[in-house]
Amino acid sequence: MALLEASELEIRFGGVKALAGVSFHVEAGEIFGVIGPNGAGKTTLLNAISAVYRLDGGAIRFDGADVTGLRPHRLSRLGIARTFQIVQPFKAMNVRENVAIGAMFGHARLRTRADWLAAADAALERTGLAPKAELMPPQLTLADRKRLEVARALAMGPRIILFDEVMAGLNHTEIERMIDLVKSLKQAGLTVVIIEHVMKAVLALCDRIMVLNFGAKLAEGAPSEVVSDPKVVEAYLGQRFAKAHASAQVAAGGAP
Ligand SMILES: Nc1ncnc2c1ncn2[C@@H]1O[C@H](COP(=O)(O)OP(=O)(O)OP(=O)(O)O)[C@@H](O)[C@H]1O
Ligand SMILES: [Mg+2]
Repeated sequence: MALLEASELEIRFGGVKALAGVSFHVEAGEIFGVIGPNGAGKTTLLNAISAVYRLDGGAIRFDGADVTGLRPHRLSRLGIARTFQIVQPFKAMNVRENVAIGAMFGHARLRTRADWLAAADAALERTGLAPKAELMPPQLTLADRKRLEVARALAMGPRIILFDEVMAGLNHTEIERMIDLVKSLKQAGLTVVIIEHVMKAVLALCDRIMVLNFGAKLAEGAPSEVVSDPKVVEAYLGQRFAKAHASAQVAAGGAP
């Protein structure tokens, strides 16, 4: 069954269509990947689904109900949680309190400070951040700040989590840990949408992928089909694999 269904989504900035008639669905329990070049509209898509941006056209259904036009906190309480590409924790609150904010604003049923903190503690356990609960965000590494974003989303008690580049800037070991974390969320029954440039993670995690290019859907399907689609290679993967190849040669001391 489709948990999330988007039809003909349209977002315009001035005269520019950042999303032009994008339709897709996400099945309950799957990991759905969204890839594409910089500026393709991936973050805009996430902002459209989470109502950070108002749609200029189209409709969104969640769990069979029309949720088009609902405000962000209503969507959170229905079970749609997200992370932000630019990580922005509250610097004056410790890690545990930052995560509790997710429960306070986003959880449908929790009402007391004790409940919010308990939800935060559970989310910190799940993300491996429990030992750092009392630290302040500026004391965290980038990888841990990304985990903090995931923990805050989990504290909302979501049914679906939308991740915007949680692997960006992480080293190989950190990426492996984040892949394991996302896998554990799927195993626990969550539905996941990931926007990601790190193809190793996309291929390790996703059941299906959609490729965006210039605000429109370029391709969609099983990862193995999509990455060998000539249109996708030309618009996106060709450049990325060429770049990865060049940097590998530089790292090995060869000519770029
Ligand atoms: N708030 C905004 N106001 C004006 N233009 C915007 C706004 N947000 C996004 N855009 C434009 O919409 C287009 C899509 O941007 P978006 O951030 O969705 O790309 P992206 O696929 O997430 O890219 P990246 O991989 O670099 O994160 C770009 O041309 C961008 O400049
Ligand atoms: Mg983006």
